[in-house]
Amino acid sequence: THQWRGIIEEYRDRLPVTDDTPVVTLREGGTPLVPAQVLSERTGCEVHLKVEGANPTGSFKDRGMTMAISRAKEEGAKAVICASTGNTSASAAAYAVRAGMVCAVLVPQGKIALGKMGQALVHGARILQVDGNFDDCLTLARELSDNYPVALVNSVNPVRIEGQKTAAFEIVDMLGDAPDIHVLPVGNAGNITAYWKGYKEYAADGVATRTPRMWGYQASGSAPIVRGEVVKDPTTVATAIRIGNPASWTHALAARDESGGAIDEVTDREILRAYRLLAAQEGVFVEPASAASVAGLLKAAEQGRVDPGQRIVCTVTGNGLKDPDWAVAGAPQPVTVPDCATAAADRLSLA
Ligand code: F0G
Repeated sequence: THQWRGIIEEYRDRLPVTDDTPVVTLREGGTPLVPAQVLSERTGCEVHLKVEGANPTGSFKDRGMTMAISRAKEEGAKAVICASTGNTSASAAAYAVRAGMVCAVLVPQGKIALGKMGQALVHGARILQVDGNFDDCLTLARELSDNYPVALVNSVNPVRIEGQKTAAFEIVDMLGDAPDIHVLPVGNAGNITAYWKGYKEYAADGVATRTPRMWGYQASGSAPIVRGEVVKDPTTVATAIRIGNPASWTHALAARDESGGAIDEVTDREILRAYRLLAAQEGVFVEPASAASVAGLLKAAEQGRVDPGQRIVCTVTGNGLKDPDWAVAGAPQPVTVPDCATAAADRLSLA
């Protein structure tokens, strides 16, 4: 009886639903806010991780998807479509199953992590691999939803943003007020848009006394907002944010400017370093794109741009199991031992 009910029931009065909206949910949200001891020591701040990989399909996308699929069902849609670097497609596929809908996904060929592809497949999605990047997939998905009876569930659908803003509510509900700084990875820029909306709404209603500065980080090879121009051939190991022309670009700039924040870049090397630190020193296994937020915080701290004593929340957006190749690569290989206690103890230097 005390189970978390999912973001629509928990925040119903703040979301665009009515009593007639069929709630399609996997009880998403209610994710852990984990104190980050090593990051706090390194920055002299109180750092927390919002662990969005704990959502039902392993990423923050579920918050937006429960809204998008519920509203699509209310409007009578029989099929949904999305473009994706992997997580949106995994989430759409799962929620479409719950709603009894057909789900079609467009993904960049060869550029989505195996775990995400497996999710879309096992949930029965119709997967089209496109010879192009995410931006090409999104253009195609928009064209299909404009011309055929299929509902678009990318974050250009405003109800996706509404669902995703609930993560900001949860943070304020947990901490008692907004943090000083909120850090997150930026790809298509829907999530930074959503958090900023959530923080603004809570401040406007007096639930929070203030809003945080929003710090967004793009991967250096896919950093159109930092460069101020579209990146035609985006690259990065963080395939989830391999995006050259973000749909919510202007909203991201507004979040940055209204909050007194910043959007900067981190290299793949910095991303992978933060990825390993999170796993090996905080015990939190995320996918590479998620580590961009932490990489950005560490970069800013090393440059002396983080005043000590602040309360900082980093969103880590997706579960490490989605893309385990990076965990295995470069790690010490497992050792093979005979089935013998003394030999095992010897290899572990226990004697
Ligand atoms: N982190 C992860 C794990 C993601 O999957 C994404 C986006 C982002 C960060 C960036 O969030 O786009 O709102 O700025 N993934 C999308 C997808 C593009 O298709 O799954 P954003």
